[in-house]
Amino acid sequence: MDVYLDNAASTRVDDSVFEAMKPYFTKEYGNPSSIHSVGERAKRAVEDSREVIAKKISANPNEIFFTSGGTESNNLALKGVAFANKGRGKHIITSKVEHSCVLESCRWLETQGFEVTYLDVDKYGLVHPQVLEDAIRDDTILASIIHGNNEVGTINDIKDLAGVCRERGVLFHTDACQSFTKTDLDVEGMGLDLATINSHKIHGPKGVGALYVRGGVNIMPWQHGGGHEGRIRSGTLNVCGIVGFGKAVEVSSPKDVESMTDLRDRLISGLLEIPDTFLNGHPERRLCNNASVGFRHIEGEGILMHLDDRGIQVSTGSACSSKSLEPSYILTAMGLKPEDSHGTIRFSLSKYTRVEEIEYTVKSVGEVVGILRKMSPFGGG
Ligand SMILES: Cc1ncc(COP(=O)(O)O)c(C=O)c1O
Repeated sequence: MDVYLDNAASTRVDDSVFEAMKPYFTKEYGNPSSIHSVGERAKRAVEDSREVIAKKISANPNEIFFTSGGTESNNLALKGVAFANKGRGKHIITSKVEHSCVLESCRWLETQGFEVTYLDVDKYGLVHPQVLEDAIRDDTILASIIHGNNEVGTINDIKDLAGVCRERGVLFHTDACQSFTKTDLDVEGMGLDLATINSHKIHGPKGVGALYVRGGVNIMPWQHGGGHEGRIRSGTLNVCGIVGFGKAVEVSSPKDVESMTDLRDRLISGLLEIPDTFLNGHPERRLCNNASVGFRHIEGEGILMHLDDRGIQVSTGSACSSKSLEPSYILTAMGLKPEDSHGTIRFSLSKYTRVEEIEYTVKSVGEVVGILRKMSPFGGG
């Protein structure tokens, strides 16, 4: 049986998304900036997607800026806001459990004269509003806190965190790449100033995403050129990708969230029956598709390879860092000992995951863990 459980890394493109994109490769291939009718039709398709996406997060269409994905949106949010607001201050706040593209943007900003505070998280990976409030200084201009964590699935209370910032006049950005369409993202109701979303985590194509920027927020363009996307992000628009992104949002459904939640819970309870295992992340405040489970006394890489041999694809960390043998900085920030981090596997489901696949996975993991523990000097075998 083939079981793909690495959907936090990327997902299968939905058939209807693929169909919606097709004409824009071969028939409607105009440049949306051209003012003739072919260009106009491409522009209409882009604007239709913008509307669908804006509606989904309660934004205005003119607050949605298309980018090449989550990495670019996060870079633009951090660097664009930092430089546009540097007259007001040079202090930025983020957390220790952000995606590497946020952390690396912050590290680069430090080389440009900005100061960054990296907030501690609790044992579940949650950022507490009081911790954020305590870190705010008179010269703080921006806080960026992840919504749903890509490794352990914990969902931060973004509304409370944004509220703390708003009261102190600090702009608030969230990276919602993993949570988008899986839990509510209401930029108006949550009081967000900026939010990052992308397409390939939600059965859309890779290489396309968006940044929500609330009207009136000062942001400096990061990529210069023809002045596309309200001059914030120049570059010919990825029409096919944007059409696919819009369709993926349109077909996302609460029913899928329900079914993923149910299968995730079956997976977690099945895996936790294996001796010496533990769940990472918050038991309730977690993404509907994430099960991050630690297996003591063995290495995650060994589990991953054995599962791959049995047709099951999982991850030992986020896709970008999983080739490194360093313990995950996210698990470390949550207080896990290095030996426990090393035995952690992230299983991430999608709307295509079936109950038989979950049963097969639980059975296979039990067998693989048994085999590896027999071989491990610490495994009691
Ligand atoms: C939380 C989070 N932020 C940002 C990204 C980067 O997004 P993209 O792959 O679209 O550049 C990812 C994807 O791995 C992610 O999980």
